[in-house]
Amino acid sequence: MTANPAPRTFPAGFAWGAATAAYQIEGAVAEDGRTPSIWDTFSHTPGKVANGDTGDTAIGHYHRFREDVRMMADLGLTAYRFSISWPRVQPTGRGPAVERGLDFYRALVDELLTHGIAPVATLYHWDLPQELESAGGWPVRETAYRFADYTALAAEALGDRVSTWTTLNEPWCSAFLGYGSGVHAPGRTDPADALKAAHHLNLGHGLAVGALRAALPADAQLAVSLNLHAVRPRSADAGDLEAARRIDAVGNRIFTSPMLKGRYDEDLLADTGHLVKWDELVHDGDLAEISRPIDVLGLNYYNPTVISSAANAKDLPRQDGHGASSHSPWPGAEDVAFHLANENVTAMGWPIDPTGLSDTLLALHHEFGVPLLVTENGAAFEDVAGPDGSVHDPERTAYLRDHLAAISEAIAGGADVRGYFLWSLMDNFEWAYGYEKRFGIIRVDYDTLVRTPKSSAHWYADVIRRGALD
Ligand code: FCB
Repeated sequence: MTANPAPRTFPAGFAWGAATAAYQIEGAVAEDGRTPSIWDTFSHTPGKVANGDTGDTAIGHYHRFREDVRMMADLGLTAYRFSISWPRVQPTGRGPAVERGLDFYRALVDELLTHGIAPVATLYHWDLPQELESAGGWPVRETAYRFADYTALAAEALGDRVSTWTTLNEPWCSAFLGYGSGVHAPGRTDPADALKAAHHLNLGHGLAVGALRAALPADAQLAVSLNLHAVRPRSADAGDLEAARRIDAVGNRIFTSPMLKGRYDEDLLADTGHLVKWDELVHDGDLAEISRPIDVLGLNYYNPTVISSAANAKDLPRQDGHGASSHSPWPGAEDVAFHLANENVTAMGWPIDPTGLSDTLLALHHEFGVPLLVTENGAAFEDVAGPDGSVHDPERTAYLRDHLAAISEAIAGGADVRGYFLWSLMDNFEWAYGYEKRFGIIRVDYDTLVRTPKSSAHWYADVIRRGALD
């Protein structure tokens, strides 16, 4: 029997995009009134980021954005996802907006629109103003209200020209890597604080959706970007199924259930009830706020997550997916082990398996029936640059092609996937890994900041031109 060839086309209007985030590319951290974020503090703390790297200069996008938009136009991108730096538009996280900070984003957006590229703005890609962290950070309820205020300022300034907004990027990372394992800023390691942060991020999302709806035209598209874990039990053993259930609860449903169903699931509350008093944490009205309708759900996908009980994992190789820490980012699910889905891994050590992407898109489609965007997907490899800065990166091209094919399969299966934002447009500051890991389809020389499209960029431009995979 011959299998049908995989479907490789995309619907009309499918957004062909790329993504970046403010702290990873902008630099100019002390210009035009910007104040430090938790990532400035964290990256300047010895031992937190590989090689002592910081985002002080990053890739200089703040001063080179016109050149960067021109490269996007050369690629034929139809959309671009960037994030707004909270401490740049509202220094210290309180009070009025700083016009010079907003002017940067106005100019960026105008440049995108001039080139026919639709801007997609993320309001929070991890750069909490340090002053708000010093006042307690996301474990404190007040931070959610600060986020809503900042959102209103951004929406007022940019709402006439940005029609697609995502509130939070990967709140799982903010809560559980930031306050649980501590491998991300602000580097705290308290499981109760991590759970409180998760609730307040959810609340901040809901309040921000309210602020956006109040400020934006009725046709604005509102979203959130979640790094949902494509959870796979390693076997049908009861212990492995239980381990997978726990990770799904604290990794995925802690966000999707309140946001899309207006509730926290009973099993999550039971798994974590020894750590936080949920009935005190969640106030009356919070779940109605958090479940304000969104228009599209953003999925960030890199690899599947294979899970067993710790007892079943003795002597088996483990996967370390989220940086080395003796503190778990999985409160209530400590007796769990992670395994590689296969040995074919990227430079991050992440296994390559596009079926996790199609499975997750189809599962989201069936469970929630919402339109979907893939707001991040991509891979780091050990690029070797020629003397002219050129990089031949067939592995990255293969990764992107196979994941786009998986999206096309999910669409053929009924999922309403409206666009793809590859991570990342350019090499950049990869959080705790500093500049060691390169995800870009455009090479950046970190000494000269010269940009050079890699062969994967030429391949992507060709896909966009044809609107189909070959
Ligand atoms: C995601 C982040 C993004 C980037 C990629 C590789 O978790 O949202 O900023 O670092 O991973």
